[in-house]
Amino acid sequence: MSLRRIVVVSKEAQVRQLAQQVGQEIFVADDPAEALDIVETVGPNLILFDHRFSPAHIHEFHDAAYKNSIDVPPIVAVGNDENDIDLSVEFKRTGAYDYLHGSQDYSRLEQIVSRVKNEAKAIDFEGNTSDFFIDDCAASVSMVGRSKAFIKTLGMIRLVAASRCNPVLIVGETGTGKELAAKAIHMLRHPKDPFVVVNCAVLTANLLESELFGHEKGSFTGAEREKTGLLEVAGAGTMLLDEISEMPIDLQSKLLRVLQEKTFRKVGGVKTITCNATIMASSNRNLYRETKANRFRRDLYYRLNICPVIIAPLKSPDRKKDIPLLVKYFLKTSTICPEKSDKITSLTKLALEALLKHDWPGNVRELRNVIERAILLETTDKIGLSGIIINPDECGEPFGPATNYTRDFSLAKAERELIARALQETGWQKTRAAALLGITRATLYAKVKQYNIEKGSLLAGDHAKEAQDEVSAPSLPQRVTTS
Ligand SMILES: Nc1ncnc2c1ncn2[C@@H]1O[C@H](COP(=O)(O)OP(=O)(O)OP(=O)(O)O)[C@@H](O)[C@H]1O
Ligand SMILES: [Mg+2]
Repeated sequence: MSLRRIVVVSKEAQVRQLAQQVGQEIFVADDPAEALDIVETVGPNLILFDHRFSPAHIHEFHDAAYKNSIDVPPIVAVGNDENDIDLSVEFKRTGAYDYLHGSQDYSRLEQIVSRVKNEAKAIDFEGNTSDFFIDDCAASVSMVGRSKAFIKTLGMIRLVAASRCNPVLIVGETGTGKELAAKAIHMLRHPKDPFVVVNCAVLTANLLESELFGHEKGSFTGAEREKTGLLEVAGAGTMLLDEISEMPIDLQSKLLRVLQEKTFRKVGGVKTITCNATIMASSNRNLYRETKANRFRRDLYYRLNICPVIIAPLKSPDRKKDIPLLVKYFLKTSTICPEKSDKITSLTKLALEALLKHDWPGNVRELRNVIERAILLETTDKIGLSGIIINPDECGEPFGPATNYTRDFSLAKAERELIARALQETGWQKTRAAALLGITRATLYAKVKQYNIEKGSLLAGDHAKEAQDEVSAPSLPQRVTTS
């Protein structure tokens, strides 16, 4: 029983090891502020705080998250052996999910994880979803597909994993599953070691450098404590450098040195640290073109590009075959509306045709969002064409023939309705609601403010069932048509 992502707010190896026993991807934070950033970026399933933190800290953490509208997963506080007072009641009162009373209590984490999973209505991958996976490798990371192109990619994943190829480059358009592919290689090579991801596009050059290499105390203003770099945290596992094309040029040369020498030093440090991790890099940009534009170092490009794993976009004729299978898989495994999960099992021919005609610029991620949105809107047991709504945030587009809709069903009203509905359906979890709508959290916030949507805002359907009957889906900014 394991969870996908765990954030550990601790410097203690024992606590990190504990997380590794129940988590597939471990993200380490030194303090609550850093943890909050990571929570916002990666959306973990659990957070572990070590004994340095008191119930008051957990309270502050929840407060900060609330102020920044960040959804917080269950928090488990981990006490140490010296503390003989049972603080569980105190911790739970301030919002912690559970408390482990020192190392003799560590074994209870498994039960806690199982509770968290049940509550989240997690999917049993060993169960009825096995039909979707070609083999164990695909199943281990839930990679679905049967097309020629997909099988070719899986073949490459297996070859690369079995080799000593290091670094590994994974390329493909956004949302094609590059991180999944990295995870698959990792699971085949060293499943028990950490899988650490850093997105090179979201951090400044200095921050990224100290994230990767760590820093010594006092090495720059603000470096109040020594920090372990992710390359070290990855140990003998995997360090995935996501969106490598966005890495600043200076840092690119430092990375090249790590790849060549397999050693590095912390920022401001003198000690040489050996890098045992497999370095993977993913990119949705054409790196060769980036070298031509002098944005990416040519030598680094050649160093990375040994046996690239290439993932074809969903629009390529070779991958069309994957679409119906992916749709079925998302229908089966979506947790967006648990009460509908057993009911909606298929879609109409017209709806499927519409999906096959779209060119999926956001690839599998976009397809998943479209299916989740359709599940949310569907009131019958089959998804019809009217439920297939693409690009809901492109509301600058005209509606098309007005005759299809009720007279006062304005674009803004429709958009407000859809946003309120998504928030309501996801229990006001903004990250999930934004993902469902296919818009960024920032856009979601702006729209919530613009339309003054509040918890408990009434939906059109609450007032006027009639209007809803006429417009079976609440908002129809842009539909796929089969013509
Ligand atoms: N073959 C697949 N089967 C099932 N789910 C998939 C598949 N490919 C991608 N996904 C899902 O699509 C989403 C995007 O995948 P992932 O994050 O790996 O893409 P990416 O290529 O790294 O995207 P980006 O370039 O935006 O970082 C994830 O939810 C992932 O689980
Ligand atoms: Mg990615």
